[in-house]
Amino acid sequence: MNLLVIGGGGRENALVWKLSQSPMAEKIYAIPGNPGMEGMADIVDDIDVLDNAAVTEFAKSHDIGLAVVGPEAPLANGVVDALSKAGIKTFGPTKAAAEIEVSKAFSKMLMEKYGIPTAKYKVFSDIVSAREYVRQEGAPIVIKADGLAAGKGVTVAMTLDEALEALDIIMSDKTFGDAGSRVVIEEYMRGEEVSVLCFADGENAVQMVPSQDHKCAYDGDRGPNTGGMGTYAPAPVATPEIRQRVQEEIIDPVMEAMRKEGRPYKGCLYAGLMITDEGPKVVEFNARFGDPETQVVLPLLESDLVSIMLACIDGKLKEQEINWSKGAAVCVVMASGGYPKAYGKGYQIDGINDAISDNCLVFHAGTAKKDGKVVTNGGRVLGVVGRGAEIREAVDAAYAGVADISFKAEFHRNDIAHRALERL
Ligand code: AMP
Ligand code: GLY
Repeated sequence: MNLLVIGGGGRENALVWKLSQSPMAEKIYAIPGNPGMEGMADIVDDIDVLDNAAVTEFAKSHDIGLAVVGPEAPLANGVVDALSKAGIKTFGPTKAAAEIEVSKAFSKMLMEKYGIPTAKYKVFSDIVSAREYVRQEGAPIVIKADGLAAGKGVTVAMTLDEALEALDIIMSDKTFGDAGSRVVIEEYMRGEEVSVLCFADGENAVQMVPSQDHKCAYDGDRGPNTGGMGTYAPAPVATPEIRQRVQEEIIDPVMEAMRKEGRPYKGCLYAGLMITDEGPKVVEFNARFGDPETQVVLPLLESDLVSIMLACIDGKLKEQEINWSKGAAVCVVMASGGYPKAYGKGYQIDGINDAISDNCLVFHAGTAKKDGKVVTNGGRVLGVVGRGAEIREAVDAAYAGVADISFKAEFHRNDIAHRALERL
């Protein structure tokens, strides 16, 4: 069958790479795609992913048997509803179900109502009461813009001044536009984070291999929050016992909650968790695959992704076999100097082909083609993925790939997977 992938980042490059290995896949199209997909997918960069009518028309005219939605913006814009209505099987939640990510206020309400463990919180729409609450609670405290802010609307404030400044930036300066018209103020949770992505079919959800992101820009978890500077899987913090608790205390209850709320959840459900002394607690839910978690999770998936996605859409996940490799994968993001703030674009990238090997994949995140050459075109430019029988081997394979690649003002973290290595 023909497949359509919506999105153009590193996550979508990894999705295309895995989908292209399916015996069921004939032609793959990507809107808008990226240069890393060349040879695996036809790049369709003249359709706006937020134009549901145009995307649906394309899917119908190209006989798409399965559409897969990567990023949150088209999900929030109802592309799954539009495609499904036109009879196209689409992997991803409806607009109503995607609210679990789109509105932090909704997801916090849901967790409170159904007893799913998470940090205590309050929502404010005026800055005076928000300031008062922050002063009353004290630091450390967490300030979040309510809405989509590409992972950058969150401040983990270790001091009261930092917290008050974050409120000003979100609510007075409107740095995040409408996403900042309401603010969620949360209790600080201490612990180690883990990303648990699940395949979900409306009734049941099955965990993928647990992974860990590195959100801070610089080594040692310092610097500003980013969309994610690197990942590894499996994350040993999620022991079998923890995974069992996650299923019983978080995943199964949230699937039931979404059903009861009339928003059954299908697609990839991403639970961002904090493993605290009291057990796993939810930091956030996302309505999509993680980026760059997908870049390490899918290389460890041995089963056919097309078949799993169709089972999710058809509500038949229980009948589906899902097998994982026993090995490990590590993704190091090569970024543009300046990211997550302003950065230059259009710099030539050298060495990608030297880096690619049996144990090293290179996924494009923010690249473009200029005069036949691949150039930088985003903050996160490439995800270099090393694979190995165990984590140390995968780390070495990833950094060997990174060493082969260069572009102007490049930077990356040198300590991806440090928490796993420290446990060895
Ligand atoms: P979010 O966009 O909600 O995932 O937040 C971004 C990052 O901020 C998370 O990955 C955590 O590292 C951190 N964070 C968010 N909420 C909390 C919390 N309540 N306690 C501690 N850290 C948090
Ligand atoms: N890597 C974090 C996210 O995808 O939200």
